[in-house]
Amino acid sequence: MVFQVTMMIVVAGCAGPSAPEEAVVATYTLPDTVTFAEHIAPIVRTNCLPCHRAGHAGPFPLITYADVAKRSRMVRDVTGRGYMPPWPADTTYARYLGERRLDARQIALIAKWVGQGLLPGDTSALPEPETPIAHHGLGEPDLEVWLPDTFHQPGDRRDHFIIAKAPYELPRDTFVRAIAFVPGNRRAVHHMNGALIEYGEGTKTDVFTGAQYIDAEVMRSLDAFTALRLANDDGTYPPMVPSAVNYLPGMEATVYPEGIGGYYFKRKGTFLMNSLHYGPMPRDTVDRSHVAVWFAAKPPERPLQELQLGTNGVTPVEPPLRLKAGEVGTFHTQYTLPKDISVLTVNPHMHLLGKAFLAYAVTPQNDTVPLVRINQWNFRWQYAYTFERMLPLKKGSVIHVFGTFDNTANNPDQPYKPPRDVVGTDSRFMRTTDEMFQFFVNYVDFREGDERVELGKGRSAK
Ligand code: HEC
Repeated sequence: MVFQVTMMIVVAGCAGPSAPEEAVVATYTLPDTVTFAEHIAPIVRTNCLPCHRAGHAGPFPLITYADVAKRSRMVRDVTGRGYMPPWPADTTYARYLGERRLDARQIALIAKWVGQGLLPGDTSALPEPETPIAHHGLGEPDLEVWLPDTFHQPGDRRDHFIIAKAPYELPRDTFVRAIAFVPGNRRAVHHMNGALIEYGEGTKTDVFTGAQYIDAEVMRSLDAFTALRLANDDGTYPPMVPSAVNYLPGMEATVYPEGIGGYYFKRKGTFLMNSLHYGPMPRDTVDRSHVAVWFAAKPPERPLQELQLGTNGVTPVEPPLRLKAGEVGTFHTQYTLPKDISVLTVNPHMHLLGKAFLAYAVTPQNDTVPLVRINQWNFRWQYAYTFERMLPLKKGSVIHVFGTFDNTANNPDQPYKPPRDVVGTDSRFMRTTDEMFQFFVNYVDFREGDERVELGKGRSAK
C-alpha cells in the first residue's frame, strides 16, 4: 500500500508545476496581439498584486505597466516554471477558495507579451487596482492581542524562527466569530502558525508571566513551553487548539459564513505562535505583530472542530518518522471517522525535508475523496486550504495521509551539509531542523445539505 502510493507521488512529482497539467489537453487560442492593458494587467492584479505592492511580502511592486515591463523577463521565467504565484497544492486534484495559480493560457499570454516586445495597449483605460478590504470585511476587530514585545531581526540574510506568546484576559467568557494574525512588518514576517491555549476557571493566576518570546533554533520545544510558562498553576497542560490562527503572505484569514465555525473563548488564554518565521532580511528590522479577534453575539451555532493526525496528533506516523542521511522515505498515517463530519479546511505540515504530500479519504462505499496533493513540497509556502463547498465525509470513512521526505543532499532545503540522520520528535514543539508530519482537518458536525454550502460566502458577503 505504502509502496504503491509512493510511486504515484513520484510520477506526479515528475510532471511538476513547470509542466502545467492543462497543457496536456490544452485547446486554448491566443490573440494575435497581446497587450498589457487588455491581457496582462488582469492576470497580474489577481495573482501577483496581493503580495507585490508596497508594504507587502513581495520584494517589488507589480502594479503598473512600468513595474511589470521592468521585470518582464523574470516574470515570464517565474510564471513559466510555476514558481510564482506560490501555490503548492495540485489544482487538478482538489479545488479551493482563493486559489492562485496560472493556467497554461495565462502563462502563454505572458510569454507572448514579452516576445512581442511588451506592448502597453490603452493603459489609461485601466481601472485603479482594487484596494483589499481591510479586516476581511468584518469591520474593526473587537479585541487586539499584541505580542508582548517587539522582535528585533538582524539583517543577516538568514531565516529566523521564533516561539512567542500573546496572552489575554477578558472580563468574561466570550463567543468568537473570527481570528486573524496581523503582521506588523509584512516584509519580514514570512509565516506564522498559532495555537490557542485556554485556561479553565481558577487554573491559572497570571497568564502574563514568563518569557515573551524565544529563539526556536536555540531552545528545545519543551524547554520553550516551560520558559513561556504556559502550564496551569499546578503544572498540568491546558487544552490547546493547535492551528487556530495561521498567516502566510497574500492569504486572508479564513472567515467562514455566518453560523459556521467560531469558538467559545475562556476568560483567560494565550495565543501561542509556535512557529513565527521571519524571512531573510538584508537590514536590521523590527516587528510587532498582533492577533485580531471578532466577537459574536451568539454562541457558535456550529463550532469549529479540529482533527490533528500524525506527529503529536491522534494517529501515529507509520513507520515512525526516522530518516537516515541520504535517505528518501514515505510515511503514512490514517484515521477512521467516528461520526459524520463536513470538512472546511485542510492543512498539511512538514518541515524542510518534505518532498510530497497526499491526503484523501476512502468512504465506506470505497469511493476516494481527494483532500490535498502537493507534488513539490515547499517549506516556505504552507497554506491552509479551504474547500469551495463544505465536504461531507461519512462515519467510517478512512482518512489516509502520505508524506514523502527527502534527506539527501539534493534537497535544496536540506539544512545540513552533509545530511544527518533525522528523527521526528514527539515533544510538543520543536526546531525547524527536526522533522514533522502532520495533517490538520477543520470541520463541523455534518448536517443535511452541507455539500451545497459555499464557504466563500463568508468573505464576499460583506
Ligand atoms: C503570496 C505572495 C506572492 C504572490 C501572490 C506572488 N509573489 Fe512573487 N514573490 C513573493 C515573495 C515573498 C518573493 C521573494 C521571496 C521568494 O523568492 O520566495 C517573490 C519573488 C518574486 C520574483 C523574484 C524571483 C527571484 O528569483 O528573485 C518575481 C519575478 C515574482 N515574485 C513575480 C511574481 C509574479 C509575476 C506573480 C503573479 C503571477 C507573483 N510573483 C505572485 C510573493 C508573492
